[in-house]
Amino acid sequence: MRSLDWVDGAVEMIDQTRLPQETAILRLTSTADLVAAIKRLSVRGAPALGVAGAYGVVLALAEHDPAAEPDRFAAAVASLRTARPTAVNLGRMVDRVAAVAGAGREAALAEADRIRDEELNASLAMGELGADLVGQLVGHREIRAMTICNTGGLASVERGTALAVIQALHERGELSEAIPLETRPLLQGGRLTTWELARMGAPHRLVVDSAGPFLLARGAADVVLIGADRVVANGDTANKIGSFALALAAADAGVPFIVVAPESTVDTETKTGDDIEIEDRGRAEVVAVRSMAIAPEGTAAINPAFDVTPVRLVTALVTEQRVVRFDLGQTLSEGG
Ligand code: MRU
Repeated sequence: MRSLDWVDGAVEMIDQTRLPQETAILRLTSTADLVAAIKRLSVRGAPALGVAGAYGVVLALAEHDPAAEPDRFAAAVASLRTARPTAVNLGRMVDRVAAVAGAGREAALAEADRIRDEELNASLAMGELGADLVGQLVGHREIRAMTICNTGGLASVERGTALAVIQALHERGELSEAIPLETRPLLQGGRLTTWELARMGAPHRLVVDSAGPFLLARGAADVVLIGADRVVANGDTANKIGSFALALAAADAGVPFIVVAPESTVDTETKTGDDIEIEDRGRAEVVAVRSMAIAPEGTAAINPAFDVTPVRLVTALVTEQRVVRFDLGQTLSEGG
């Protein structure tokens, strides 16, 4: 089941804000509606954002002819590419489709379909390469895999990134259990990853975010598998807030910490993690859980949606094309 696609002239997607209670399909026919869906996280996860942005440019082409209304078309494209700042896929795929917009809407749609298909194929390849690597690093076939946020088909188009590896391990009969962190404040792990693990029939136990590092210290997991919103030239990796704490604990416990992300998330134009823009989503998500206040009225909050894990804490990066063993001194420019 695809989490989003182009269907009869519109973008259709599972509304991730309504899971797990309801599997509702959103049909979006305007750029403004798609931008709003991206901002409220109806669609989220780096590869899925890239695919959504790509189809968004096709919607923009129906609203404004770039030859007749270049400024309006450019403004619609800019609203898409800036809807969320940290995942490199969004701006990159918007730019890719905008670059062929002059050739017409059919050419733009063909490019967006290509981007969708590339992500589908990447997920399949990452799952297998990642499962092979986990087998090599862990050395047994009853793997307990900890993960954070949602990196499954919902965050991509099908199967996903880190969760694609967990799915491949499960299909090989090598998964003892998955341990997803709930992922405050928006609970992508609690709401979405558990939903996907249940659908694939994979054994799993949900834990609160603050239990992750302690469980690693107590030997509860053999590997940590995470996705990425941006992997930069030196290997530093931006991913959901909480990933850095897991990486520190994994290093302390000697547990492999593996980043699984398609090449479309690798951004070698950005040099180090210090140069990555981290989205701050504001106080509302922190002071309330699903509209119920959990802090006194007027409480201020800091809400970074992502953190950066320095490459020295990352064992390896798995893409659809390669495995880069940072722990063995490989680098993105030469490795894999
Ligand atoms: O804020 P979100 O839910 O878009 O954050 C998503 C993540 O951090 C994922 O781990 C990342 O995009 C990789 S998804 C395959």
